[in-house]
Amino acid sequence: MGKAFGAVAGVGAVGALYAMKRSWDPLPSVKAAGFTEVDTSTCVENKLVVEKWRGKPIFILKKTAEMVSSQGEAEAARDVIIDGAHFTVNIGLCTHLGCIPAYREDRKDFLCACHGGEFNASGIDTKLPPPSPLIIPPFNVKGTTLVLGEEGEVYKKMKESGVTA
Ligand code: FES
Repeated sequence: MGKAFGAVAGVGAVGALYAMKRSWDPLPSVKAAGFTEVDTSTCVENKLVVEKWRGKPIFILKKTAEMVSSQGEAEAARDVIIDGAHFTVNIGLCTHLGCIPAYREDRKDFLCACHGGEFNASGIDTKLPPPSPLIIPPFNVKGTTLVLGEEGEVYKKMKESGVTA
């Protein structure tokens, strides 16, 4: 009887330890939450794609050739080049009070309906009250894949040069 009780207690202890270890391990969803991979090969020019990264909306906009040729230096400095194409990659939260701006394909700009703020297609603020451009999230480019959450060399240079906050 004593031996049987000991064996049952032993199995119970192992089970409890296993359960405790499982509760300490991060959930698979938490492990994967740091990075979001986006296949940009299916992106269409002037059509906004909205992805989610760490709970935030991420705007991904493939520019047309006309948008690229007519833009200035400040806009070009924010471009993410993927497989020869120019993209805007921004956190889709207005820098005024955090609303999500809408992309207007016909005007090729963003309107924040909360207080009327506007950003151009590169995410640069063009009409108050937003005080600054949309933020560029940490990114890396691997082939045609955009990896959100990974600080690649291009992103680091943008950050160092003050192109993004
Ligand atoms: Fe966008 Fe105020 S939150 S203009």
